[in-house]
Amino acid sequence: MKNERQIHIEYMKKIAVLTSGGDAPGMNAAIRAVVRTAVYHGCEAVGVFQGYQGLIDGDFKRLHVRSVAKILGRGGTILKSARCEEFRSVEGRRNAHQALLEHEVDALVVIGGNGTFEGAMHFSKETGFPVIGLPGTIDNDLSGSDFTIGFDTATNTVVEAVDKIRDTADSHNRLFFVEVMGRDSGFIALHSGIATGAVAVMTPESGISIEDLVGILNNGQASNKTSSIVIVAEGHPEGGAFEIAKKVHAIDNKYETRITVLGHLQRGGDPSCADRVLASRLGVAAVEGLLSGKRNVMAGVVNDRLVYFPFEEVIENKSASLEDEVRIAKILSI
Ligand code: F6P
Repeated sequence: MKNERQIHIEYMKKIAVLTSGGDAPGMNAAIRAVVRTAVYHGCEAVGVFQGYQGLIDGDFKRLHVRSVAKILGRGGTILKSARCEEFRSVEGRRNAHQALLEHEVDALVVIGGNGTFEGAMHFSKETGFPVIGLPGTIDNDLSGSDFTIGFDTATNTVVEAVDKIRDTADSHNRLFFVEVMGRDSGFIALHSGIATGAVAVMTPESGISIEDLVGILNNGQASNKTSSIVIVAEGHPEGGAFEIAKKVHAIDNKYETRITVLGHLQRGGDPSCADRVLASRLGVAAVEGLLSGKRNVMAGVVNDRLVYFPFEEVIENKSASLEDEVRIAKILSI
């Protein structure tokens, strides 16, 4: 008698994989895991280049076990990535479906963030094509996984940079505003802020007004702080580091202030051990999930357990889960 996985393996012969949205360290480790797990289970693996654009254009290439050798520890994505306007339309998604059918692909693994899953959700609803997602974004803003692939590496990069900035801030008794990525969520800012002892972390979640910030800085100075680092999340409603520094200056200009915008250096670099392991685990979960009949879900790890959540649920904002970090950052920065 055939078990469930055997039945799916029989019809699932070709699995495609793509990366979409902003690249994230660990995407290559995930691609490698998808390809090797597919081959391990007797399927053919196909790489789609340039994200959803490549899906529409039929930019496909067969990947073998050795095609993904020595990429485990490399940043970026060998499949390239893109944000694709065309895939936002029904017609674009229809063309992508057509290309998959022409190449006789049976299922698709998409690795990306919010925008990627929004596209995947519409695509799978409209076409019924089997899709599984993996959370690949430095922003960590997806529900359905405690951590996303790339977040650990990016946060460590920020911590390394801020530690260096601290040397100068301390030597010159300066106030630094450091702007970090995260689109509209404060995971990178709050985690790196806690890890570097920032005097304040300005994120959409932390609810610190400019007046509050001036008060925090003055209290710090009154209690003999010699240097202050304020981490600013790029998506802060008051603006980025430049705007917030300007607004602070307009109220109180006694600080010698400098600004650093870390920008895209946060997205590059070799993935950390945690990201390589997470990506490998999820890559296996994507293929084995498809083979056991899972569809239109994202694989994630919650409380160290493998879970699968529907796309509609994972794109929900998970900023509420930052409540604890907001409190910790506040308590420890006195
Ligand atoms: O989603 C990842 C991310 O790095 C965000 O943190 C940032 O807002 C955005 O991508 C930047 O996008 P781009 O590389 O297209 O400028």
